[in-house]
Amino acid sequence: MLSRAEVFEELGIGPVWRLRDASAADAPPTAHPAPVIDWDALADAVARCTACKLHLTRTQGVLGVGDRNADWLIVGEAPGADEDAQGEPFVGQAGKLLDAMLAAIGLARGANVYIANVLKSRPPGNRQPEADEIAACLPYLLNQIALIRPKIILALGRVAAQTLLETDETIARLRGRVHAFRGIPLIVTYHPAYLLRNLPDKARAWEDLCLARRTMTMTPDP
Ligand code: URA
Repeated sequence: MLSRAEVFEELGIGPVWRLRDASAADAPPTAHPAPVIDWDALADAVARCTACKLHLTRTQGVLGVGDRNADWLIVGEAPGADEDAQGEPFVGQAGKLLDAMLAAIGLARGANVYIANVLKSRPPGNRQPEADEIAACLPYLLNQIALIRPKIILALGRVAAQTLLETDETIARLRGRVHAFRGIPLIVTYHPAYLLRNLPDKARAWEDLCLARRTMTMTPDP
C-alpha cells in the first residue's frame, strides 16, 4: 500500500500549500487525476488515520456514503456527533434537511449521489476544522473524487467551498455561479446546518440546487 506521502505525491498536491501552485506549468490541473488507492485501501487508511490530532477524540473515521459511480458528489464539512457515532455522513438533523434538498431535485442518498466531508474525523464539540486538519485530510477527499469521477460537485458551506476552490471568498460571493474543480463543475450553496438556523436563505439554496440541476443536464459525458 502507498504511504500517505506517496498518496500526496501521486495526487500532485503535496502539502496543501502546494495546491496553490496547481496551475504551474509542471502541474497542470486535470479533470480526473488517476485514483491512487482503491476504495478498500482508502477506507482502511481513513479508519487507521492518525495524521492529525482529531484521531485522539473521534469514535471512528467517516469516509463517505453512497454510489461510488455517482454523477453527483456532495461535499460537507466534517462529521458531527451523530456521524461520529454512526460512521456515516449527514445522519443528524442537517442530514435530514440535506435528504430533503436532494429529494427536491429528484435525487436520493445512495442513488447516483455520493456524500463525503472535507474532514473524515469529528472536531470535538463540533468546532470549525483547523487548517492543519484540512491539510492532513484533503488527500482522502481528492482520492475519492478521483475514484468517483463525478459530473458535478455540490459544496455545502464555507469549509467545503473554500477548500475545494482555494479561496477565502464568502459563501454569499461564491454561490449563484458555476465554478470548476479540476474541470468538474462545482456549485456552492449554504450548509444545511446553517439553513436550519437561517430559514430565509432556504430560497437561495433552492436557487443553487436548480442551478446545479441545470448545469448537470448541460454537462457532457467525460
Ligand atoms: N455536517 C457536515 O458537514 N457533515 C456531516 O456529515 C454532518 C454534518
